[in-house]
Amino acid sequence: MRKINFFDTTLRDGEQSAGVNLNLKEKLEIAKQLERVGMDIIEAGFPASSPGDFRSVQEIARTIKNSSVTGLARSVKGDIDAAWEALKDGAEPRLHTFIATSPVHREYKLKMTKEQVIERAVESVKYAAKFFPIIQWSAEDACRTELDFLAEIVEKVIEAGAKVINIPDTVGYITPIEYGKIFEYLKQNVKNIDQVILSAHCHDDLGMAVANALSAVEHGAGQIEGTINGIGERAGNSALEEVAVALYIRKDYYKVETNIRLNEIKRTSDLVSKLTGMIVPPNKAIVGKNAFAHESGIHQDGVLKEKTTYEIISPELVGVQSNSLVLGKHSGRHAFRVKLKELGFTMDEEATNRLFTAFKELSEKKKELTEDDLVALVLEEQLTG
Ligand code: KIV
Ligand code: ZN
Repeated sequence: MRKINFFDTTLRDGEQSAGVNLNLKEKLEIAKQLERVGMDIIEAGFPASSPGDFRSVQEIARTIKNSSVTGLARSVKGDIDAAWEALKDGAEPRLHTFIATSPVHREYKLKMTKEQVIERAVESVKYAAKFFPIIQWSAEDACRTELDFLAEIVEKVIEAGAKVINIPDTVGYITPIEYGKIFEYLKQNVKNIDQVILSAHCHDDLGMAVANALSAVEHGAGQIEGTINGIGERAGNSALEEVAVALYIRKDYYKVETNIRLNEIKRTSDLVSKLTGMIVPPNKAIVGKNAFAHESGIHQDGVLKEKTTYEIISPELVGVQSNSLVLGKHSGRHAFRVKLKELGFTMDEEATNRLFTAFKELSEKKKELTEDDLVALVLEEQLTG
């Protein structure tokens, strides 16, 4: 099976989330967990951006042994030099350098012509190749770039020595089918494209970052970039835990494998949420509090009879202890009886029915019923019933 590399940028793009600021100790703790969960590449920061970022990247590169540690650099010598200084003691130093390629970025941000952008990109890759064994090159805003120009610049940076070519959807604009077509176009129009790894880096502005990443896998990407819990600039990046589980659960379809230890996912998500202060929404796929909670009577009855009626992922697979049957106004008699038994109460059919009616009345008034509510109802039933 084809192997898909996971490139985690929680500590770089993820830290670009508004309101997030991690110190060195916190970054190291996250990096160790990212290594444990099986990330192939960890982007530890942007060394030239601040002395703090430089120190964190250096410390992470010196500590992490089982993942390749990388750092971001613009296409300028100063950034590349800073990245080399920070990364050179790592087990597998790798540079991630980028330049914007789209018309809007060329005209307003860079004020450069297409030719100048190509020249700068080629120069920086050649310069970096003097130090770095592996260079990843990214075309910032690739998805809003003219396809023929994208192919031209990609071909030139491959010639200059880039080993990984990243196609970022920087502003979260592309759709899954269109993204797949970009990969197909590059495969057909770039010389030596089969000598490099194609990478996908998606943002979630239209809520399609994970779908786009999966489409890239279908169309030849060998590396997926993203963050834990999907945190990142604006609406965030592809949530890597979602990509990893989707590739595993639907391996019949994608036919690929990864190094991700799925049972470390929940622990990784909890740690990132705790240290960044970014709360995981309850309905978030894979790691949300409700991802394995069943509330309606029909679903609870189904799951009690056979879990796979309503669970395509077993909670244990991703390190969640168990599913939960939440008692609320949609819950049914079956889950209610199971809960009573779990709490140690045995009662006859008639008493159970009376209690169930009282429970339904109470559930009209409260959003979610707790075990204490249930115990109170049982005690009342025992006194009056
Ligand atoms: O979204 C983006 O384009 C980036 C690049 C620096 C790869 O984060
Ligand atoms: Zn990004």
